[in-house]
Amino acid sequence: MEQSRIADSIGIPLDRFIKNNQEQFQYASGELSQLLRDIALASKVVNREVNKAGLIDIMGALGSQNTAGDNQQKLDVLANIRFTRALSKGGEACALISEETESYVDLNNDGKYVIAIDPLDGSSNIDVNVSIGTIFSIYRRRSPVGTVIQEEDILQMGTDQVAAGYILYGSSTMLVYTTGHGVNGFTHDPTLGEYFLSHPDMRMPDDGKIFSINEGQALSFAPSVTKYVNYCKEKGYTGRYIGSLVADFHRNLLKGGIYIYPATAKDKNGKLRLMYECNALAFVAEQAGGLATDGRNRIMEIRPSALHQRTPFYVGSKEMVEKACSFAD
Ligand code: AHG
Ligand code: MN
Ligand code: MN
Repeated sequence: MEQSRIADSIGIPLDRFIKNNQEQFQYASGELSQLLRDIALASKVVNREVNKAGLIDIMGALGSQNTAGDNQQKLDVLANIRFTRALSKGGEACALISEETESYVDLNNDGKYVIAIDPLDGSSNIDVNVSIGTIFSIYRRRSPVGTVIQEEDILQMGTDQVAAGYILYGSSTMLVYTTGHGVNGFTHDPTLGEYFLSHPDMRMPDDGKIFSINEGQALSFAPSVTKYVNYCKEKGYTGRYIGSLVADFHRNLLKGGIYIYPATAKDKNGKLRLMYECNALAFVAEQAGGLATDGRNRIMEIRPSALHQRTPFYVGSKEMVEKACSFAD
């Protein structure tokens, strides 16, 4: 988007922004726009519930585990229901991949899009009033509309994403997304119940001084990771780790920094999920001028072989990610 148009568009509602930029989509039919609106609507419902946590009985563990073996929180399940419902009612999506469901969910066979979602990211932070998020990726289905979903529709690479983004339920609630034409951020105005463009054409600083990694696991890092963390310390960088990927990523996007979730003794392939955590943030990062790798390879070029596949994740400012990868064993 040219500069003058960006300046003119600050403060415009998300709906209007989506409509104004619809022609940028490769398949400008309005359905992708509607899908983004469905996601925005579901996020407002989740936001309302997140804000009420503590007042109503939605905090704490549910007593069950998801496929990945994580303890499900009540809000994980609630958020999954909200997004699934909004997407199935909308009709544009034919299938939904979610952290909270073992297999993909069939939606509308006439839908053209496949959605991958982490409905509630950072759920261990819910009970302590720390920022949490939602992460989403949108793919175009490969099989013909109206037919039954195929594996080729589901296991697509990050480079196939047509849109991706996240919602951050923080000190303010933000929706940040890309359709492959830069990254734009919208802030929710709770009095009006609407998202407004607040961060047009977001750019991640090429370099930064913040590193985010769970150092509690330092003893099981590979030597390359230990070397990079030591390098950050020698440089006097600042360590910041919220434990909510969306929040850590968003801070680094604005300020410049790197987030690493490496392979550890416990999680040989890292902890984060390629299809509904890493790919979306990789797309946003690259569109903002940053990078995302697994320590060696570009995240968006990893061909998934399973829905809940994990990958080590290095994402953030270009020069920092390049430096971290230069230590590779
Ligand atoms: P989720 O709540 O969706 O399971 O994701 C949690 C993820 C991510 O948000 C965060 O950065 C990471 O797990 C934290 O893991 P550790 O506690 O192992 O550092
Ligand atoms: Mn997550
Ligand atoms: Mn989650």
